[in-house]
Amino acid sequence: MLRASPLAIAALGAAIAAQSVITSASTPLSIESPAKGLRLVGADVSTPPQRVPLGEGELLQGLPGSGSLSAEELQKWLSNAANHAALQPVLPVGLDQGELDRQGLKANPLTRAKIELGRQLFFDPRLSIDGTIRCASCHDPDHGFADPQRFSVGVRGQFGTRNTPTAANRLLSAAQFWDGRADSLEAQAIGPLANPTEMGFSHAAVVGLLEQVLGYRIQFETIFAEGVTIENAALALACFERALVTGPTPWDHRARRSAFEVANADDLAAVADAAPEDLDADDAELLADYGLLIRATEAMPLSAPALRGSKLFFGERGGCFQCHAGANFSDEQYHNLGIGLATINTNRRVEPLAANLETTIDWGRYTVTKNEADRGAFKTPTLRNVTQTPPYMHDGSLATLNEVIEWYVGGGHRNPWQSEKIQPLDLSVDEQSDLVAFLEALTGAWPQVERGRLPE
Ligand code: HEC
Ligand code: HEC
Repeated sequence: MLRASPLAIAALGAAIAAQSVITSASTPLSIESPAKGLRLVGADVSTPPQRVPLGEGELLQGLPGSGSLSAEELQKWLSNAANHAALQPVLPVGLDQGELDRQGLKANPLTRAKIELGRQLFFDPRLSIDGTIRCASCHDPDHGFADPQRFSVGVRGQFGTRNTPTAANRLLSAAQFWDGRADSLEAQAIGPLANPTEMGFSHAAVVGLLEQVLGYRIQFETIFAEGVTIENAALALACFERALVTGPTPWDHRARRSAFEVANADDLAAVADAAPEDLDADDAELLADYGLLIRATEAMPLSAPALRGSKLFFGERGGCFQCHAGANFSDEQYHNLGIGLATINTNRRVEPLAANLETTIDWGRYTVTKNEADRGAFKTPTLRNVTQTPPYMHDGSLATLNEVIEWYVGGGHRNPWQSEKIQPLDLSVDEQSDLVAFLEALTGAWPQVERGRLPE
């Protein structure tokens, strides 16, 4: 067996990159046939279960046409059985690494009809008590489905006390909210509708409204055995949110290519050293697969600063991967970084806690578990498309990614419950901007989402 030579692989990569189409003297290579492990875009959708790529295509684009949705249009669309078939979602490159972490699909299978109903509910202000607020008011599609304001404004101009996180890329996440108090998207969705400072309705009022709007009643009655219920509205909203994922990022393509190079190091080195006439069909397939990966990295290149930043992010010096782990850059766990704890000016535990501190501080996960160790701990947020969702942290207290990095470099705010994983970092100013460049390279394209087309 040949020893892997990174140099040979690099030379091979450069050679493939220099060619627009891969050819070989002995075997005509096809890059048309999808390589192993790649997404089968355009796969046969007539045979169940329907494989549908998330993050692209027409899934979130509403019914064809324009203007308000008439009852007839909806009825016709709902009469198509394909719109009720369970979809087998195929995740984009990057998120597909989290295949095993997908949540809620068994209990609440994705169907086009549920996703579309959820989309309408997400964008419909009629679901709020004064007709002014919809989910999208705070989870704004122009701002990464989050809110550029530190605290969102709900019905009657009321402010919340936490920064609005993105409603996207939720498919890999079970517990929702900064403190994880909802154990699913379904449980989460019911919250804001009746939250007095968010949408302000009672559940009975929401159900009443949905029954009044003929288009909604038709959809609920066709899709769900129980018709209009708040639980069914939550099922639809959760389907919409699970289908809302961002596309591959420069980092995803780069990471996939690197993983391939490592896994196939020996074979690639052998191919690089071999004469063209000695290449067999397996070699040809390998080269075709590799060529696809190389072209993907070239179509969406990772900058040199971002590559340097990735080494800090995944290395000991930055240590970010300890919590921002997995396909969504979140371990889905709760950690105290010291955000919002400026008034705690001791590292030691003082018992009992002064009464005013108990009530004036947002204790995060502790409010759910009442476990002392959870004080001031919040859920690790995803970092996908994080450039688009300032300000940062559960209280929106950091305005820019530069500020976030500076804050980590300083070791956060010391307090008795701070995570041991948070320590001052020894990073130069240049290294800090490399980390920011890496965070910027976690940005992927948004699927097209219809914001209008609501039932009349
Ligand atoms: C008034 C602003 C506002 C409205 C309206 C609103 N949200 Fe939110 N949303 C927030 C805030 C703030 C949080 C974080 C609250 C917390 O963690 O306690 C949040 C959290 C979430 C989360 C959890 C994300 C995560 O990473 O944990 C999801 C999902 C979500 N909202 C979806 C929705 C849906 C669906 C609707 C409509 C039914 C909606 N929101 C309406 C402000 C809003
Ligand atoms: C101990 C676990 C942990 C480590 C280590 C960690 N983070 Fe975080 N990160 C979190 C948590 C938890 C939050 C939210 C904290 C809060 O709001 O109170 C967060 C928030 C963030 C945010 C803000 C995201 C948003 O949407 O508001 C960014 C950006 C971020 N981290 C990047 C990094 C980088 C870069 C590193 C490495 C230098 C890092 N993190 C290390 C757990 C961690």
